[in-house]
Amino acid sequence: MDNLIFEKVDNYIAELLAPEDKALTDTLDSIEREGIPSISVSAPQGKFLQVMALACNAKNILELGTLAGYSTIWLARTLPEDGKIITVEFDEHHAAVAQKNIDNAGLSAKVNIRIGKAIDILPQILANEEGPFDLVFIDADKPPYKEYFEYALQLSRPGTIIICDNVVRNGAILDENTTDERVQGVQRLNKFLSTCNKVTATIMQTVGAKEYDGMAIAIVK
Ligand code: SAH
Ligand code: DHB
Ligand code: MG
Repeated sequence: MDNLIFEKVDNYIAELLAPEDKALTDTLDSIEREGIPSISVSAPQGKFLQVMALACNAKNILELGTLAGYSTIWLARTLPEDGKIITVEFDEHHAAVAQKNIDNAGLSAKVNIRIGKAIDILPQILANEEGPFDLVFIDADKPPYKEYFEYALQLSRPGTIIICDNVVRNGAILDENTTDERVQGVQRLNKFLSTCNKVTATIMQTVGAKEYDGMAIAIVK
């Protein structure tokens, strides 16, 4: 089967259940205009994040990997008046573009962008006792995914939902001899999930307009 049917169905789902308003299409336009990689979640995936956030009544969300703020906007829109999302981004240009997009979406009061490497920011969030988070979305660089997940666990409460993007990578995770450290990173995470008794987890394969991939979804016990 070619990808065309996946793309057509993705568009069908997006039109039916995940229509984008101007703040979201402006965000996608900014990605193109600013020469930022086009690696945001899709609209149906943004809606999926919203469904998960609402399922756990999220008031306090943590995101690793902001890019231009596309997934941040989907998530932040589920938050109650006094809800907060901290989103961590290493690239200053991405963070500056994201801040504009978040302002444009009217979400500045709920979104806090932290600029820096996630591996440096996470211990600060822990030390400052900014958790527990109700939902954590891990979508930054792939090699330290297991370490990010372990921090997420430390920042969780029973019932916290932890979602990790890009854990299938076109099926490359099946290759045990891969030399791609991004694939090795998600393989380490996936293996960890199989032995971690602190969560109930699975992996959903994702097809659509973007490349074939998957998301891990874990609920903290
Ligand atoms: N969640 C976004 C997409 C994130 S893409 C969305 O769906 O809209 C991954 C982002 O992680 C990029 O912006 C990249 O600059 C950032 N990143 C890469 N390495 C990082 C690191 N070590 N710490 C924090 N962010 C990082
Ligand atoms: C890449 C990163 C992502 O988070 C994604 O969803 C797709 C691709 C990448 O770095 O190639
Ligand atoms: Mg991703």
